[in-house]
Amino acid sequence: MIAKVRKAVFPAAGLGTRFLPATKAQPKEMLPLVDKPLIQYGVEEAMQSGVRNIIIVTGRGKSAIEDHFDVSFELEHLLETRHKKELLATVRAVSDMIDISYVRQKEALGLGHAVLRARELVGDEPFSVILSDDVIDAEVPCLRQLLDVYEFYGAAVVALMEVPKEFISAYGVVDAEPVAHNGGKDRLYRIRNMVEKPKAEDAPSNLAIIGRYVLTPEIFTSLEAIEPGSGGEIQLTDGLKHVLRSRPIYGYRFEGKRYDAGDKLGFLKATVEFALKREDLGEEFRAYLKGLSF
Ligand code: UTP
Repeated sequence: MIAKVRKAVFPAAGLGTRFLPATKAQPKEMLPLVDKPLIQYGVEEAMQSGVRNIIIVTGRGKSAIEDHFDVSFELEHLLETRHKKELLATVRAVSDMIDISYVRQKEALGLGHAVLRARELVGDEPFSVILSDDVIDAEVPCLRQLLDVYEFYGAAVVALMEVPKEFISAYGVVDAEPVAHNGGKDRLYRIRNMVEKPKAEDAPSNLAIIGRYVLTPEIFTSLEAIEPGSGGEIQLTDGLKHVLRSRPIYGYRFEGKRYDAGDKLGFLKATVEFALKREDLGEEFRAYLKGLSF
């Protein structure tokens, strides 16, 4: 029997240097995309994928994230007395996202280190990881797509995306062979090797790892065993490479559009496209953009 994935870990303790000064006193996961912080999109994706137990790894600015998912009595009271029913429902929906726990990463020692901090809360079971600055707009939530593969093979699965050569050195990159799956041979891969932030000429492929993972608990032992890698940080990619020595790992080229919302340009693109899709804003915003003279 393949164990069910019940938990999602959200590393949110990075320094967010690409988004300074906005991220000086608040985590980038709290940057609002139209009107919702990035991390809420991720939490909603987990919920829609059937994963309800949320673990957030926080660093500085921890209170902003905790407060966001907590009940705000003052705000609810104010909205109630002003009869703002819709807003009240929106605010309550956030705090009703049950079952969130927090663990602290005191120093930003890398994504792998952040995941390792969640070990106690995850325990000895498979789990998922969502990097909420990778916002993915998809018909079937990206995490659900990975879980479908996990539930079939019972092995770890990472999200993959094709990236042009000139940008590849910003990512973890895989060396992988395609595997026939669901009647097709163009989305699922079995990973042979992976490398974090390779030089473009050394990259083993154009397939980059994007911030969605389904992992098995062996990753914790591997993360403890490895030395700091690229940038002096404990890299999740290096931990996965260590797991590969004894277990298979799959990569799934997900269906959907990914925005790098931890980067200013990626964030702007996401903001414009998400706003255009909104029923309450889209039409007016489109007219406004059309009227701009460039
Ligand atoms: P990034 O690679 O985007 O790094 O982290 P960063 O520090 O947040 O941002 P930049 O590159 O300086 O602008 C990917 C994810 O891993 C988390 C981040 O919060 C983000 O969700 N992370 C990274 C941690 O939780 N801890 C770390 O030590 C590093």
